[in-house]
Order: sequence, then C-alpha cells, then structure tokens
Amino acid sequence: MFKDGLLRGKRILITGGGTGLGKEIAARYLELGAELWLAGRRGSVLESTAKELTGKYGGSVKTLSVDIRDAAAVDAMVQRIWDETGPLTGLVNNAAGNFISPTKDLSPNGFNAIANTVFHGTFYVTHAVGKRWIAGGHKGSVVSILVTWVHTGSPYVVPSAMSKAGLHVMTKSLAVEWGRYGIRLNAIAPGPFPTEGATKRLRPGGGFEESIGLNPMHRVGRMEELQNLATFLMAEGCEWLTGETVAIDGAGYLASGSGAYFTQLDKLSDADWEKMRAMIRTQNDKDRAGRTG
Ligand code: HXC
Repeated sequence: MFKDGLLRGKRILITGGGTGLGKEIAARYLELGAELWLAGRRGSVLESTAKELTGKYGGSVKTLSVDIRDAAAVDAMVQRIWDETGPLTGLVNNAAGNFISPTKDLSPNGFNAIANTVFHGTFYVTHAVGKRWIAGGHKGSVVSILVTWVHTGSPYVVPSAMSKAGLHVMTKSLAVEWGRYGIRLNAIAPGPFPTEGATKRLRPGGGFEESIGLNPMHRVGRMEELQNLATFLMAEGCEWLTGETVAIDGAGYLASGSGAYFTQLDKLSDADWEKMRAMIRTQNDKDRAGRTG
C-alpha cells in the first residue's frame, strides 16, 4: 500500500512497543525505513522484539525500560533519546492497561493501575516529547491508540473508557494549541484486533465470536489494516490532518453502540466473575514476572 522508504528519516518512539498492537506498528514502521525507539516495562520482552524485528527488516531499533506512570522516569527517557540520537519526529502512544471488572468491585488501586498508565502516563510522554519539539523548533506527529469507547463509553471497562476519552480530548486540545508549532496529534480508535494482552484480560476464557456476530462486516480487524492506518497518520502528505480520532472497526460501534460486547457481560454471575478475575490475575502475574524495574 505504501512505497518503500516512506518513513526513511523518521525517528519514532512507540510506547508499549514490545508486544501487541505496538509491536505490529513497529514492524511496519521499521519495514518502511523508520528508526525506532521502543519503550515498555519489560526489558527482556523489548529486547527480543527488537532482535526479531531487526532480524526481519534490518534498520535500527533501540529499547527503553520504563514505567510511564513515573513522570520523572519518562522525562529522563525522552532526554536520553534526544541526547543519543537527536529529536524524535514521531510518537505513538500505545502503552495501556486494562481488565474487565464490574465497576462496583474495583478498588481505588485497581482504578489507579489503569488510569495512572493510560491517562496520566500518556500525558507524561506526550508532554515530555512535545515541550522538547517546541523548545527546539521541531515539527512532530503524535498518534495515540484509543478505542471506540471514547465515543460510546463502555460498561465493565470504565477506568479504561474514562482514561481513553481523556486522551481523545487531549488529542483535540493539543492539535489546536500546538498547531502553530507544526505539531499534529491524531488518534486511532480500533475495534477488536485480537492480541494476547487484550484476549487474556478482556476475553478471559472466551474468544471474539460474539464481536464477530455483532459486527456489520462479520469479522474482527486484520492487523495490516491497523498498520496501514498508523502509517498513513504518521507519514507526510496530509499535514493538515490533525485533532482527529479515526475509528477502524468495520462500523462496529456505529451499528451496536456502547461497548456492545461488554454489555453481554451483564449475564455473568458472581462466580463467573471470580473465575474471570483468576484468569486475568494469572496473565498479570506472568507479565509482572518479566519486568525488570
Ligand atoms: C479487579 C483487579 C484485577 C481484576 C488487577 N486488579 N486485576 N481488580 N479485577 N481482574 C487490581 C489489583 O487487585 C490491585 O488492586 C490493582 O488492580 C493493581 O494490580 P497489579 O496487578 O498490582 O497492577 P500492575 O502490576 O500495575 O498491573 C496493571 C494492570 C495490568 C493494568 C492490572 O493488567 C497491566 O499491567 N496491563 C498492561 C497490559 C494490558 O493491560 N494489556 C491489555 C490492554 S487492552 P488492590 O486494591 O488489590 O491493590 C487495552 C484496550 C483494549 O488497553 C481495547 C480492546 C477493544
């Protein structure tokens, strides 16, 4: 879909770039010639992704072990990028955290685990990068990975829906405030694109069949479709495109409204939820075991 070398000369930071959608976007950007920095909490996962991607596509992929909930660590990380390789040209806000839970059962810590990463952490990264672009007189492009719930809200994933809706508003607000510096901000609101993290925490014990049944195109997303949109938003050619959140979901949210898949969770009993929690915790523990910091 894109010409070779489309992203040559671009230097892009992808948060949460070791796995899931972040890794998929990294693969396409690298293939198209971008120089990459991947940030995440698990150093070994980032390293193995960097090795796998450079093995396939060549190029340069550097990794940064960071928890974006820590504003000082984020600022130090971004300064390191500037010092080692020079200013970024692009940022992909992909790092996130989420699990399904009845909202009444969430503890303040449970809410914070998600909001601190998604809402606060994404702001910290955007701010650390944006203020350096402005100070240095550099243009830049930010692509944030949101979700269609920013338009509809969604039951059972309320901290995520609230946080991502905040980033949707950040995208619009900063597009206006930073437009005069040549900094643009856009976002992608994907419908279901199955990844391990999303499957284990949002569909524990089940797959995507119900989403497929509810979707006008009767399928989930194909990863190359998301990669293509992320490339289009990052590449040059439509610099006047800013402040937009583009849904890529086969018209799913237009057809079904508020978090249709999650509304089905109304059927679950307390015992079902207990089982779900155990499955989600197993995945969280597995991830935590891989973290270095
Ligand atoms: C209720 C839960 C819970 C659950 C954790 N908690 N899981 N509460 N139900 N299933 C509570 C804990 O009890 C604790 O509160 C608090 O959350 C913090 O838990 P930790 O495990 O210590 O948190 P932490 O290690 O910081 O992990 C954060 C995380 C984890 C969000 C819980 O899942 C994570 O790091 N995820 C990153 C990757 C990820 O989520 N990928 C999927 C993204 S999908 P107490 O009170 O007990 O201390 C996505 C969008 C999907 O974002 C869109 C699809 C359409």
